[in-house]
Amino acid sequence: MTEEELHAIVHLPKVELHTHFEGMAPPAFIRGLAKEKKVDLSRIFRPDGSYDYRDFWHFLEVYEAATSVLKSPEDFARLCTAVLEESAANGVVYQETFLSPDFCGGGDVAAWKEYLHAIREAATVAERDLGITLRGVITCIRHFGSDQARDTACCAAETAGDFITGFGMGGDEKKGRQRDFSWAFDCAREAGLQLTTHAGEWNGPSEVREAVEDLGVERIGHGVNAHTDPALLEMLAERGVTLEVCPGSNVFLGVFPSLDQHPIAKLRKAGVPVTISTDDPPFFHTTMRKEYEALAKTFRWGEEDFRDLNRIAIGAAFCDEATRSAIAKRLEQP
Ligand code: ADE
Ligand code: ZN
Repeated sequence: MTEEELHAIVHLPKVELHTHFEGMAPPAFIRGLAKEKKVDLSRIFRPDGSYDYRDFWHFLEVYEAATSVLKSPEDFARLCTAVLEESAANGVVYQETFLSPDFCGGGDVAAWKEYLHAIREAATVAERDLGITLRGVITCIRHFGSDQARDTACCAAETAGDFITGFGMGGDEKKGRQRDFSWAFDCAREAGLQLTTHAGEWNGPSEVREAVEDLGVERIGHGVNAHTDPALLEMLAERGVTLEVCPGSNVFLGVFPSLDQHPIAKLRKAGVPVTISTDDPPFFHTTMRKEYEALAKTFRWGEEDFRDLNRIAIGAAFCDEATRSAIAKRLEQP
């Protein structure tokens, strides 16, 4: 691949479906807030300033510690501006992000509405100034349990609309079962929200099957461990269940030992709708440009492969049809 070909790939307009809002916070942003609020967070940073954690489960603890200094709607509005500047600089034109009312007012509906209002205002300014469109997917957190997920679903149902368009679940996949959260997902569906859940990042293919069959989700966060089950791959392809694949995250956290051993090419070949995202980019030392560059080099994918991946992503986006066609048009720019 020539330098020009790689340059064209890295600079393509991009659709990103799987990001955690707080997980996009640059470490310097969190350090700055900690200083302002006189909270000692030195334990979660390495001497070079990056986030410090040992493995995925420790990552979840560090994530929650970092999030603890985001205390007001204004803090979340500042975060929104910072993350959309970074995403727009990476060529992202449409992004979905997981928002957790648990971190924004502790799951209280009235408080959540204030946080959401502030986030939305910042997103509107970024859309006008930077040309990036954001949509929110409200996310319950699996290791916080199904009771808390009900509160989260109530927040989601109360604020479902043109900005909050989806409902999902993140957190520790080793805790509980997908079906424990049926009430929350049913509530969200009834409120008109589209559904996704993290599955098959740490557990095997049966987790992905349960997510589809027990919760009725249209997309799966990660889902990469489906690759060992041919019947499941067939089912995902047939039903058009889209995987939000985060290759850099998977390699950084050790789900796969290296990108060349990542099953993303195999999943595409099986006809499963696959998309590319960064998950929690500063935590995993990645960006959308870095993801595209690494994938292009490792799998020898050309510009048309990435254009296809983006078409799949906007096709699976949780947004209204006017937004979808406007973004799809931007993706086709030469
Ligand atoms: N929360 C933030 N990042 C996550 C991930 N990759 N998996 C599950 N929960 C998360
Ligand atoms: Zn995730």
